[in-house]
Amino acid sequence: MATQKLLIFRWGIISTGAISTAFVKDILLDPKTRGVEDIVHKVTAVGSRSIDSASSFVDKLINADGSVKIYGNYAEVYNDPNVDAVYIGTPHTLHYLNASDAIKSGKHVLVEKPATTNTQEFRSLVTLAKQHGVFLMEAMWTRFQPVARAVKQNIDLGVLGAPVMVHADLSGDFDIENIPLTHRILDPNLGGGAILDLGPYPLVWAIITLYEHPENNRSKPTVSASMVKTPLTGVDRSTCFTLNFSELAAQAQLSCNINIPPCSISATLRFRNGNILIPAPIYCPRWYIVQHFDKPGSGKVQREETIHFEIFGGGWHFQADEVARCVCEGRLESSVWGHEKTLLEMEIFDEVHRQGEYRLPEGVEQVI
Ligand SMILES: NC(=O)c1ccc[n+]([C@@H]2O[C@H](COP(=O)([O-])OP(=O)(O)OC[C@H]3O[C@@H](n4cnc5c(N)ncnc54)[C@H](OP(=O)(O)O)[C@@H]3O)[C@@H](O)[C@H]2O)c1
Repeated sequence: MATQKLLIFRWGIISTGAISTAFVKDILLDPKTRGVEDIVHKVTAVGSRSIDSASSFVDKLINADGSVKIYGNYAEVYNDPNVDAVYIGTPHTLHYLNASDAIKSGKHVLVEKPATTNTQEFRSLVTLAKQHGVFLMEAMWTRFQPVARAVKQNIDLGVLGAPVMVHADLSGDFDIENIPLTHRILDPNLGGGAILDLGPYPLVWAIITLYEHPENNRSKPTVSASMVKTPLTGVDRSTCFTLNFSELAAQAQLSCNINIPPCSISATLRFRNGNILIPAPIYCPRWYIVQHFDKPGSGKVQREETIHFEIFGGGWHFQADEVARCVCEGRLESSVWGHEKTLLEMEIFDEVHRQGEYRLPEGVEQVI
């Protein structure tokens, strides 16, 4: 029997905040705990604005044998020859600059969601990545998880018939009355507000169910949106957006909010013959429910199945496996969450901002 070649994939980590911590913890778990036999992730460099922060990040999270390079800036990570790909975990408004610097140094890039603050920035990153022949992906981790993959398979099999409506919400109580106005969720200069931070999650379920539906033919939806802004800093506290997919005659009604807790069922995918219920947390559900109606449109649930998945870790490692495999195969984008889907996401968010009459502060968007 042929033995599978093991790929050791080397990451450089940009910034040492909450999400970089979660990502690194996950990628350093034994990949076999998620059935992955062909890849091992290694962190070979960490860059922070502060060398002390980079150093304590490495001490805390990585079994350092002295081989992890610790840098008090980001540039040295981009230039480190022992780094294959860079993971960017800075606030939204820095993603464009950090990603473009990494790409220009010839590094493959996984950049946190939202990939950029607007469509033009992401378009510019795509052009740059193609020029430099490097892989680029937004860290839309939910799309790579077992529940998302299973739900997508279920939809493609068409067991529940035509999709009609998606309801999805991600809310989180950030205690906005009591956190500093400079917190990234409130500060307009860091892309604060609900839509850029939380909006990607309800949207990903609409993309899976409707945009990716075989009968949608990749048609883009029209958007209608409204925002409620907080007087604290003027960013959106609550945003609702509806997407109309005319090819399918289906809609998605999506929302996000930064001062209420999440719902226990965070997405309901409604079809003619039944429903799929996605529990919280919407970004990493560990089970889902399929409800079958006795006849199309009746709403009478004849049979209900709950499907569970055991996930070791937080769920951030699945996307890292995708990056490693794509890079290994010489691909410049993922076929699961490629450039086209991030561009769609950013176009929708631009339109939500426009209809919500919200503009990022002058000078924040690097490409307009
Ligand atoms: N995928 C997910 O589940 C998930 C969850 C949460 C957040 N995110 C995304 O990850 C990004 C960061 O969120 P986070 O919660 O990790 O934020 P965070 O805890 O504040 O960390 C952000 C890090 O960015 C660096 N940074 C560079 N310039 C900065 C500046 N001007 N202000 C603040 N920090 C700066 C800092 O690291 P150094 O000082 O070390 O350079 C900081 O620790 C956001 O884009 C967010 O949307 C994703």
